[in-house]
Amino acid sequence: MKNLKATAIAHSNIAFIKYWGKKDEKLHLPLNNSLSVNLDNLITKTTVEFSETFKKDQIFIDGQTVQGEKEKRVVDHLNRVRKMAKICLKAKVISKNNFPTASGLASSASGFAALSLASTKALGLSLSEKDLSILARLGSGSACRSIPDGFVEWYKGKDHQTSYAKGLFPPSYWSLSIIVLLIETKEKKTFSNQGHQLVWTSPFFKERLKNIDKKIFLIKKYLQEKNFLKFGQIVEDEALELHSIMLTSKPALIYWQPETIKAIKYIYFLREKGLPVFFTIDAGSNLFLISQKKDEKDLIRELKKEYSEKKIIINHPSKGAFLIKDYQVEGD
Ligand code: PMV
Repeated sequence: MKNLKATAIAHSNIAFIKYWGKKDEKLHLPLNNSLSVNLDNLITKTTVEFSETFKKDQIFIDGQTVQGEKEKRVVDHLNRVRKMAKICLKAKVISKNNFPTASGLASSASGFAALSLASTKALGLSLSEKDLSILARLGSGSACRSIPDGFVEWYKGKDHQTSYAKGLFPPSYWSLSIIVLLIETKEKKTFSNQGHQLVWTSPFFKERLKNIDKKIFLIKKYLQEKNFLKFGQIVEDEALELHSIMLTSKPALIYWQPETIKAIKYIYFLREKGLPVFFTIDAGSNLFLISQKKDEKDLIRELKKEYSEKKIIINHPSKGAFLIKDYQVEGD
């Protein structure tokens, strides 16, 4: 039997307009479109191998065997791919992140994007970008945005077949720097899945949905015009809106740490000093700073006055998921 093995690389993505709240829990159909960019320095590399000799699925993430809920999510995804390929062999999955898992840096996005591409390829399937994005969405909603290149929009769609992500602009379109400011690297207590379920308990959520299409229209306009100041402001407003929904959900979701507020204030201070930099935050406490590449050096210099080098991860827009030539990985 031929070698049923493939390796894929995918990058994490950060949303400018967020996905928060689902129309369909199981299919991860979102209540609104979202917009993101892939990040070149937050990388997951995943090798999937199917074999008659495997008695059960084995999953290793960052060198550790994965069990419980996390294992189930990966096995469910492998089952979807096995069903598509009409093959029932068990698999070995070896996945590595170059950043801390489950710390608000969206390891599930890059993880399920890489898993979708590697597992389909290993079983001889060649999915279109659209179908791969649809498949990745079933693993984790935001993973569908890590499939296409560069600046991406995820269309909420009407149903399973119409909810997928598509590239708006290639990575080279706009020289932005997206700098992660690590506030904490511990596992999150509340995963985003539970958060999505709480959206309607916030009195502000209805208001958000009322205005979201206008916001998406505006951010696409500023992206098209490369109007950085207007673009940055809308991204920052969106992050604060997301967290106001989280804070007013029942029970309240408080992802921020005192250090998060301190960092927000520091960004305001830098902006007042004339440095054009904005922030966004996902379901975690870390900040993602957005600046133009031309200001990157100045921004890093200012950040280093307050933060150690290991808390700063510099990213630029990157391509989507791709296959690499198979190779021997540790633990193989
Ligand atoms: O894909 P999920 O279920 O991990 O949800 C992602 C939610 C946010 O990161 C907060 C927003 C987003 O659009 O990425």
